[in-house]
Amino acid sequence: MSETLLVIDEGTTSTRAMLFAADGKCIGSQAAELTQHYPAPGLVEHDAAEIWDRTFDCTKAMVEKAGGADKIAAIGITNQRETIVFWDKTTGEPLTPAIVWQDRRTAQMCRDLKAAGHEPTVQARTGLLLDPYFSGSKIGWAMANWPQLKEAGDRLAVGTIDSWLVFKLTGGLHVTDATNASRTALMAIGSGHWDDGLIDLFDAPRAALPEIVDCAGKYGETTLFGAPIPICGMAGDQQAATIGQACLDPGDTKATFGTGAFVLTQYGAKQPTSKNRLLATIAWQLGGRRAYALEGSVFVAGSLIQWLRDSLKLIATAQDTEGLARSVADNAGVYLVPALSGLGAPWWEAEARGSISGLSFTATRAHVVRAALEAMAHQAHDLKTAFAADGADWKTLRIDGGMVANDWMAQDLADMLDLAVERPAFAETTALGAAMLAGVGCGLFKDLQAASAMRGEIATFEPDMMDDTRQTRLNGWENAVKSVVASA
Ligand code: G3P
Repeated sequence: MSETLLVIDEGTTSTRAMLFAADGKCIGSQAAELTQHYPAPGLVEHDAAEIWDRTFDCTKAMVEKAGGADKIAAIGITNQRETIVFWDKTTGEPLTPAIVWQDRRTAQMCRDLKAAGHEPTVQARTGLLLDPYFSGSKIGWAMANWPQLKEAGDRLAVGTIDSWLVFKLTGGLHVTDATNASRTALMAIGSGHWDDGLIDLFDAPRAALPEIVDCAGKYGETTLFGAPIPICGMAGDQQAATIGQACLDPGDTKATFGTGAFVLTQYGAKQPTSKNRLLATIAWQLGGRRAYALEGSVFVAGSLIQWLRDSLKLIATAQDTEGLARSVADNAGVYLVPALSGLGAPWWEAEARGSISGLSFTATRAHVVRAALEAMAHQAHDLKTAFAADGADWKTLRIDGGMVANDWMAQDLADMLDLAVERPAFAETTALGAAMLAGVGCGLFKDLQAASAMRGEIATFEPDMMDDTRQTRLNGWENAVKSVVASA
């Protein structure tokens, strides 16, 4: 049997296909940018047809690179979570724009539901909070505002991006994996099933939802590239990164700095309950058994660096940030709170907006850029405090994602968290996790433990900062973030 695994990693800003050998070696990668649509402040949409077209092209390129579909053992899929697609089951065409996880159009709806006292029930059943981030309120809004969805009747299909891609790849299978389902706010994460009470609360169309399946198994196959290729692994991107970082034992923690930053601590078989505004989520489901995680979701990370580059034009490339941060001794009192699309955990202020504070005539471009990078460690520190208060102390932090190639930032994380920070040499841990799941699903590996041999070398950053320097930074950040929250 072939041992090559093909991964589709569909993210917020780009989609890619990658080929992996069974030893974890990446043997090919093809990526394409995705258009971001911002129809009004706070609204973020994607074109699901474009997502499919670009994903198809990248996948085809990797099938050709492998030497044909018969050379591929299995496909694994991982994706931006919560983003919701509405399509016609008979034509296979999207009926509306996809509403992206960053979209805040349902902020008022969530506030109203919270005021009506629904948050404790939502949190108990889903592990999530009432925030526009999750798919449930987006689905309710779409059903109420886009008449073509009700008109579609039983032709309507609704799903997250994993569902959309599987439907297109297989020509009609309508499934979602348990990790993606756990982000919709429609699933009871204790039972692993859709919850009728939540479906009513958000007014979601029950019959249009996909079937919830494990993260590994033979779900179906695609014949779009020649010989049939089985689809054998699926997980939301942050759960896939948790697996790719081999966070397989309770307490193991990873932080992915992609478009946003997402910290997950593996929690084992018992559903966690956060008392500190963190999320409980499904880490994976295999053989019908679920492992859970506590999650801290930060909405803005890499997108801040993009904004510094594209909107403020403070830098020409993301790589410039490291040299600029190193070029100054400190932040000169400048703090940047990156609430450009509200604040996620542990603040959950959908209407908060970003700030740059502490400016004086000594402040330069380098100080502002340094403050932007420092904000990553500050946000991570807020999460560390919340996780510890929930009984999940981090022993080390495994980092990945596009931003962590920046050595200065990796060291700043270790310094501010006062913790060893581990960075794998191969940074695409999200794709690696999906490859591991596909490998388990097609029988190449007996379990995730065996699949974790796919991981490569790890570099460790040890903390090296004086306590009073750390405390000064933390005090400055606390003042800055509290004033952002207060003015929300
Ligand atoms: O929950 C949103 C998350 O899945 C998006 O991930 O990699 O596009 O930042 P990413």
